Amino acid sequence: MTRAVCPGSFDPVTNGHLDIFRRASALFDELVVATGTNVSKSRLFDPEERLEMLREACADLPNVTVMGFTGLIVDFCKEIDAQAIVKGLRGGNDYEYELPMAQMNAHLSGVETVFIPTTASLGYVSSSLVKEVASLGGEVAELVPPAVHARLAQKLGPRHA
Ligand code: PNS
Repeated sequence: MTRAVCPGSFDPVTNGHLDIFRRASALFDELVVATGTNVSKSRLFDPEERLEMLREACADLPNVTVMGFTGLIVDFCKEIDAQAIVKGLRGGNDYEYELPMAQMNAHLSGVETVFIPTTASLGYVSSSLVKEVASLGGEVAELVPPAVHARLAQKLGPRHA
């Protein structure tokens, strides 16, 4: 049985993340989407809200489960017996950011990181841009799952999502 973890802040989950979950879930017996906290990023949604949105968005993916984690991602991988970490790559900036983390995680535990290139049509989608555009009144309905769109409207006001 192969189990992989796809970690991230997911503040909020976007259609870009969902594309990676769907494609990664075809490569492993089980995929655990794990929401953690990146201390260097400001957050719009609290951990429980992010988990709820992820669970709604992944409901139709049968071998995907959603969990929260704290502490090191490699300790979480050991705890749930996951052999790999999956990350999506949109381009060079993502690679620069992800490579040292992949190397550190391999150094700490031997867990391998598998990179999946983002589908080209979703390459510009990020949680940060979605939040910025939505907060300034731009339309993000095509970039996030419907449940996330509704939550953005709740959080920012209906004209802002
Ligand atoms: O959405 P992000 O910012 O890419 O998510 C980053 C996250 C939360 C997956 C990353 O910061 C992480 O793995 N944090 C857990 C703490 C940890 O293991 N840090 C060392 C990484 S080498």
